[in-house]
Amino acid sequence: MKKTVLIADDNSANLYLLKSIMESHGWLVREAENGKAALEMARTFRPDLIVSDILMPVMDGYSFCRECKKDETLRNIPFVFYTATYTEPKDETFALDLGADRFILKPEEPEVLIKILVDLLEEKERVSLASSKPLGEEMEFFRRHNEILFSKLEKKMADLEAANAELRKLEEKYRGILENMDDAYYEVNLKGDLTFFNQALAARTGYTREELMGMNYRQYMSRNCWRQVQDIFAKVYQTGRAVALFDYEINLKDGGKRFQESWVNLIMDKDNRPIGFRGMARDVTDRKIAEEELRQAEERYRSIFENSQEGMYRANTDEKFIMVNSAMARIFGYDSPAEFVEQVNSGAHPLYQSREDRRKIFQLLESRGVVQDFEARFFRKDGSVGWVSVNIQPARVAQGQAPCYDGFVRDVTDRKESVERLREAFAGTIQAITSLVEAKDPYTAGHQRRVADIAEAIAREMGLSREQIEGIAMAGIIHDIGKISVPAEILCSPRRLTKLEFNLIKTHAQSGYEILKDIKFSWPIARMVLEHHERIDGSGYPHGLTGNNILPESRILAVADVVEAMATHRPYRPALGLEPALQEITENRGVLFDEEAVNACLRLFREKGYTIKD
Ligand SMILES: [Fe+2]
Ligand SMILES: [Fe+2]
Repeated sequence: MKKTVLIADDNSANLYLLKSIMESHGWLVREAENGKAALEMARTFRPDLIVSDILMPVMDGYSFCRECKKDETLRNIPFVFYTATYTEPKDETFALDLGADRFILKPEEPEVLIKILVDLLEEKERVSLASSKPLGEEMEFFRRHNEILFSKLEKKMADLEAANAELRKLEEKYRGILENMDDAYYEVNLKGDLTFFNQALAARTGYTREELMGMNYRQYMSRNCWRQVQDIFAKVYQTGRAVALFDYEINLKDGGKRFQESWVNLIMDKDNRPIGFRGMARDVTDRKIAEEELRQAEERYRSIFENSQEGMYRANTDEKFIMVNSAMARIFGYDSPAEFVEQVNSGAHPLYQSREDRRKIFQLLESRGVVQDFEARFFRKDGSVGWVSVNIQPARVAQGQAPCYDGFVRDVTDRKESVERLREAFAGTIQAITSLVEAKDPYTAGHQRRVADIAEAIAREMGLSREQIEGIAMAGIIHDIGKISVPAEILCSPRRLTKLEFNLIKTHAQSGYEILKDIKFSWPIARMVLEHHERIDGSGYPHGLTGNNILPESRILAVADVVEAMATHRPYRPALGLEPALQEITENRGVLFDEEAVNACLRLFREKGYTIKD
């Protein structure tokens, strides 16, 4: 028949271990959590062996042993103490004096333990009933019992105190970490009421700890926001898994708002049932604001880019378009920016009508780094031609990114065409006026055109601006328009003129000015006409102006007029020839004529092979 063992121990781990050892040896095992329960069980089923711990609640091992030994029916059951707690030699003596058979110190090797117990059972069978020791005096038992238990409890108290102190130190340490963190730590119950939090949360929200304790998260979030957070709590509850990094906004006590980034996890009780949530929240307001500003700026620039009436693009240094806006696609006749990029980048459609324009643009980029107001003819998608004005500059790109260009393109086809029409109309008008003068004075025929040509060449040689050159050429063509008010007989007179007649001719400068002064030219045409007979020493007419008081353009016109007049045939004399003409301006260089204009004129005729055209 199987032996039955009763084990009394308040530590469930110890109980389990002992039970396993004994069951593996083939014994039946009964367990009890304390002496009192064990005593009742022993009385009910009388085990073959009792193994007991000493320190147990309700009834300790010594009392249990004494009760067994006092009980006629239990007295002869072998009683073994198996203990480790605060053991001293006198503990064993007391145990044996109480009638215990063995006093074994934990932990013992299972085989050794079993052997001791088996030997004990055999020995008990041999010596049978008579072995039980007499019980001592009642008073004596209590005295020794109290003394031993008291000392054991004292030690246990000291141990607990030490353990408590250790726990307190740890608790302080963790509290210190928690309270000094910048991040907020929070715990809420399943309803979302705050049950625990650190100072960072209070400081951030502006509430006192007292106000915050028990507050529900819905109270410091907008409706939209708490619904999102509620969903996250629900997800964590359902899956049991933490959710890392979700964003939300909290309302502060003072009415402000701050952005938080948090993780959240479940809090479980000891039976592994969820009882709340814990998490940490980092303040990411500054980052959010920066992100928002960046987003808005990006949106603004995108809106400008997309809604601009001016074509905008970014292209790499291999002339491939990276992005273009809608206006750019529209200007070039494409349906969309995407189509533009695809068709143009593939080389299916050239953009510039002239290779020369393309070459110049890249030359400018290389030499100056930018292209400004460059006007070029371009092909639309359908092959028609228009005009664009192009500005290109290097794009500001992030470090390490390939260099590229930003381009701004304006469709100037209409302007170009209307300017062209205006120019033609203007040229026609000028031609008509010229014809009027020339009809009256056939000898002036060609004079004005040739003066214009020489003056333009001098101006170009002097490096004047395009604007100025154009103005000088224009003034040259009509500079003698005032002669229209001089009688034809005088103009065409083959004889030498009287002083009076000559004075009459001299009025042509002022007359020309009067005719032209109210016309809004882009250039000072009327003044040039007025001043083309002024001389820098003040000897000219009509006003006897000197030096810089005469327009530079007028001074150039004066040189061209004299050279042409002397070099070609006049009604009252044959041509004097080019050489005397050049000699005349050379001799009067810096006296009657502008020195620089004379030098430029001489260079043209003497070095650059300029000739007066018929
Ligand atoms: Fe003149
Ligand atoms: Fe003239």
